[in-house]
Amino acid sequence: MTGGRIRNAALAARVMSAEDAAALILPGSTIGMSGFTGSGYPKAVPMALARRIEAEHAAGRPFKVSIWTGASTGPELDGALAKADGIEFRLPYNSDPVAREKINRGTMEYLDMHLSQVAPAAWQGFLGPLDTAVIEISAIREDGGLVPSSSVGNNKTWLDRAERVILEVNSWQSDALEGMHDIYYGTALPPHRVPIPLSRTDDRIGGPVLLCDPAKIVAIVETATPDRNAPFAGPDATSKAIAGHLLEFLQHEVKKGRLPAGLLPLQSGVGNIANAVMSGLLDSPFDTMTAYTEVIQDGMLDLLESGKLHVASATAFSLSPDAALKLNDRMAEFRGKIILRPQEISNHPELIRRLGCIAMNGLIEADIYGNVNSTQIMGSYIQNGIGGSGDFARNAFISIFMTPSTAKGGKISSIVPHASHVDHITQDVQVIVTERGLADLRGLSPKQRARVIIENCAHPTYRDALADYFRRAIVGSYGQQSPTLLNEALSWHQRYVETGSMLPR
Ligand code: COA
Repeated sequence: MTGGRIRNAALAARVMSAEDAAALILPGSTIGMSGFTGSGYPKAVPMALARRIEAEHAAGRPFKVSIWTGASTGPELDGALAKADGIEFRLPYNSDPVAREKINRGTMEYLDMHLSQVAPAAWQGFLGPLDTAVIEISAIREDGGLVPSSSVGNNKTWLDRAERVILEVNSWQSDALEGMHDIYYGTALPPHRVPIPLSRTDDRIGGPVLLCDPAKIVAIVETATPDRNAPFAGPDATSKAIAGHLLEFLQHEVKKGRLPAGLLPLQSGVGNIANAVMSGLLDSPFDTMTAYTEVIQDGMLDLLESGKLHVASATAFSLSPDAALKLNDRMAEFRGKIILRPQEISNHPELIRRLGCIAMNGLIEADIYGNVNSTQIMGSYIQNGIGGSGDFARNAFISIFMTPSTAKGGKISSIVPHASHVDHITQDVQVIVTERGLADLRGLSPKQRARVIIENCAHPTYRDALADYFRRAIVGSYGQQSPTLLNEALSWHQRYVETGSMLPR
């Protein structure tokens, strides 16, 4: 019983090596793993499984598995299994570069899903059977209750649905995590579904542990390995300008009486820009903020520390190595201000609509009518996935998307005539912000939107070309609701594919 983390004697007897645990996984099986934005994913069993798959492949025997998780994981899971050519099918989110490459090359199937919908889809029977759950936890209590680690994700559902369970007990995770989680067991399938009794960000509606039938637990592996914890790019002039426009907008909304002085619960997406905006809020006049969000990145931790943010509800941490160490050292202090919930609850449309979240997410590109592409570069190359951005954007009090106005050193305009792929339709996008300015699209028709987006958000290098396209589309379009020149709408993307730049030849 290492470090007193496994406090149930019967379960302590099931401790074994990662190799022995991985040997219990059969080729072709479907595995529900823990993990969300690089935190709380199993580290030892997936690596052992990858080694086993490589050995089988070397012996000429096929071996692939299907992997379901909460969201993104780390190099020991997605990275190692993808490198071993061991993943047949993956859902619901990936940001691992090796797996991304395989998906884009067409050698790995990937289902990119709204993160709130994964657990319900599993329960509804839409995803098929789940053979094994491999779940990282931080401790096992005397009564067999499983104390989650740095993410909750879909763990409750995987533990309930899987035929057999393998646990990784990670002593790198702070033991003070115990008591931070709120695991709600009140979800049901229609027609038995009832309202979720949560009306404030700091409401606790469940218990502190995950429950699991001990008879299903076939292996327990002890680890002491850190989460992935990739560093963020420090706020640069671009992200500071984006944060500046956004703060000005929020202050304006408070002045107009459309938002309370402490704002409404914040949702902040993944990535560098979202993190920089959170850092920008440190210098804002808002000092009674709360967050009802999916992940807690560095900027949000700083806001909690400053006292400006009173409480943050999420499903996972996504921290830099420095911030993760700080949090681990001071977990008991932060425990009163942070609640980690299943992703089905952190991202639940009913709750997002009830609380009135201010959604702030990154984007890949937006078109002049405000359709947003969050996922597929040039309409086909997956970057990460929609994640929770759709859960929040459709149901938020205000739905905001942010991006630098150009990508790849200016060779790509983030504002395009026509989005090459759409994750968020124009009705779900109310504000777009770039370092150039902010487009408040509320109450505007498509043509009114186009004028504001081109004027306020486009980079000057591309602004005239966008305005020219829009003028000609008004003349030459089949209809006048969202004027489009069908033979030209995606020509900027085609030019990039052919020449490496969207700039006119
Ligand atoms: N064309 C091509 N590449 C683009 C691009 C565009 N229009 N816009 C961004 N990119 C690339 C960047 O060049 C960068 O690539 P690199 O890693 O090779 O340098 C990468 O996408 C990330 O872009 P960056 O500008 O650093 O922004 P970010 O870290 O803030 O991430 C998203 C932006 C859209 C990728 C990210 O927010 C995301 O994955 N969103 C979808 C999921 C989501 O919103 N989750 C939150 C829900 S709670």
